[in-house]
Amino acid sequence: MKPHAAATHSPGRTGVAGGLALPDDGGPVAEGREFVWSNADFNRIKALIYQKAGISLHDGKHAMVYSRVSRRLRETGHNSFRDYLDVLERSDGPEWQEFINALTTNLTSFFREQHHFDILAQLLASRRQQPWRIWCAAASTGEEPYSIAITAAEALGMGGQFQVVCSDIDTKVLATAAKGIYRLDGVKGLSQERLQRFFMRGRGANEGLFRVKPDLQKHVEFRVINLIEELPLRDAFDVVFCRNVMIYFDGPTQRQVLERIHRVMKPGGMLFVGHAENFSDARLLFSLRGKTVYERL
Ligand SMILES: C[S@@+](CC[C@H](N)C(=O)[O-])C[C@H]1O[C@@H](n2cnc3c(N)ncnc32)[C@H](O)[C@@H]1O
Repeated sequence: MKPHAAATHSPGRTGVAGGLALPDDGGPVAEGREFVWSNADFNRIKALIYQKAGISLHDGKHAMVYSRVSRRLRETGHNSFRDYLDVLERSDGPEWQEFINALTTNLTSFFREQHHFDILAQLLASRRQQPWRIWCAAASTGEEPYSIAITAAEALGMGGQFQVVCSDIDTKVLATAAKGIYRLDGVKGLSQERLQRFFMRGRGANEGLFRVKPDLQKHVEFRVINLIEELPLRDAFDVVFCRNVMIYFDGPTQRQVLERIHRVMKPGGMLFVGHAENFSDARLLFSLRGKTVYERL
């Protein structure tokens, strides 16, 4: 990895404070920024992340995209977005994954949208004797799949037959999920009882850190899965959580992702989606059973 390039004096960078105008030709008009930034750069990044991850970026995302991808320029030692993108497009190497990781939004928390976990608990308790296969797609840093595993352990017992596949396109957040270590502010919404039963508390240098206990973690497996590609999943799932990711996809992409999810679910299986996601036009695939909960037909 090349060292961090120095700030304002390299060709192709701007160091002048001032307004922001965005030419299509990539000219050096985006003043006050470390790197020249143009509509052409934005549109190129927009097309590439759409192609690779299905993420649709609207024009209000200029500042976010600039800030996130400029970190990649620094890491790789490029002086301009144009150079960085030229090299990226000519390669099929690991920078593609870094590019994707830089552009995903990974906000999550334990027991986010609590009502889903209440429904899940009832569902699991209704069929204690059979194995449960649950897929948590777009799982980010792991709070969601561990919340699912905690719910299952409470309903079925720690030795119950349940397996949670935890996946994301972003390798960095998935590595965090696989570690299963969270800071105090991340677990503060969990009850003392849950913290004691499912986490080990760090001591000494690890004070303030909480690690998921191995007997819970063994129910969770981690996979890099891109929802816009054919799914590398064989067994049919009883439950799928695919929450707060479809909002980044356009209508046709959402439809394709729903069709893929449908193919890996058992008939009668339950699909949980995010609070802002509505798939009423996929009536032939899924039927609404509650607030943002669908049954696979
Ligand atoms: C806002 S987070 C949602 C996390 C969690 N599902 C929740 O609701 O708390 C969105 C996640 O979707 C992932 N993502 C974005 N595009 C994806 C794709 N094409 N395939 C799989 N995951 C994707 C991102 O990496 C990110 O971790």
